[in-house]
Amino acid sequence: MTGQNLNYSGGYSNHTLSQFSTRTIAREGAFLLPYLRDDMSILDCGCGPGSLSLDLAKRLQKTGNIIGMDIQAGQLAAAQEQAEQCGLDNVQFLQGSVFSLPFPEQYFDCVLAHAVLYHIPNPEKALQEISRVLKPEGIVALRDADMYADIIYPRNSTLDAAWNLIYQVFALNGANIAFGREQKGQLLAQGFSPLSLSASFDMFTSAQEVSDYARFWIDFMGSLHKNLILEHQLASENELNIFMQAFTDWAARPEAYCARARCEAVAVKA
Ligand SMILES: C[S@@+](CC[C@H](N)C(=O)[O-])C[C@H]1O[C@@H](n2cnc3c(N)ncnc32)[C@H](O)[C@@H]1O
Repeated sequence: MTGQNLNYSGGYSNHTLSQFSTRTIAREGAFLLPYLRDDMSILDCGCGPGSLSLDLAKRLQKTGNIIGMDIQAGQLAAAQEQAEQCGLDNVQFLQGSVFSLPFPEQYFDCVLAHAVLYHIPNPEKALQEISRVLKPEGIVALRDADMYADIIYPRNSTLDAAWNLIYQVFALNGANIAFGREQKGQLLAQGFSPLSLSASFDMFTSAQEVSDYARFWIDFMGSLHKNLILEHQLASENELNIFMQAFTDWAARPEAYCARARCEAVAVKA
């Protein structure tokens, strides 16, 4: 796939992308709402299938505009098609990396990076680049996982071992699964002044949500990162099968419950 970031842990399966496609500004982007203006020029950096970009475009009047950008081009054509179907002419999608944004200095009023910075190595470099393309007093909006704060119930020692394996895969791919709690420090270090810091949870509670959530991690271990896991001897094939079965068993339990922790920050370019 063109421009695919091979180290990005999440992958681009239809199942994963359809989960991202349900994201909305009212829910996942609620922390940004108090700072949105109709006339803003916004970059949605690492936009994925573009659900948040499209939702933002609907909220902006004709005077505002949004660019959805992602390093992986495969998702962008469908996002652009959706924009056209919805008659949105204030949004466009293009391929690019957060480490080298294809825009001049002081170009945007707002840069959103939803579930992106915790996935990438050197997030401080990404923040420097975001700062470069922001106008003076422009704002950056971040929402990142902090996986050590996730609530997953019920747990057992096999599931705990599976989670440890998952954490190791993220680390091998250069991700920082505790980036959420570091947002404030990272923003300060790059000269931003935080306006608001908050946290919320992505919820997986219905039988379907729990099953979809388990399937994501089963695919993560058993397919997407299987070779990496075996090459680095993080687990044997037999252990992988046991871990995948543990997720299947977890999802079959009526009390299975997951709340994924997300840290949120809005900060202004000083
Ligand atoms: C977890 S997804 C989030 C997608 C979208 N923001 C959302 O919340 O639905 C992370 C996205 O970041 C993108 N990404 C990873 N590294 C990137 C980079 N260096 N520059 C731009 N996007 C990147 C991935 O391709 C992926 O689409």
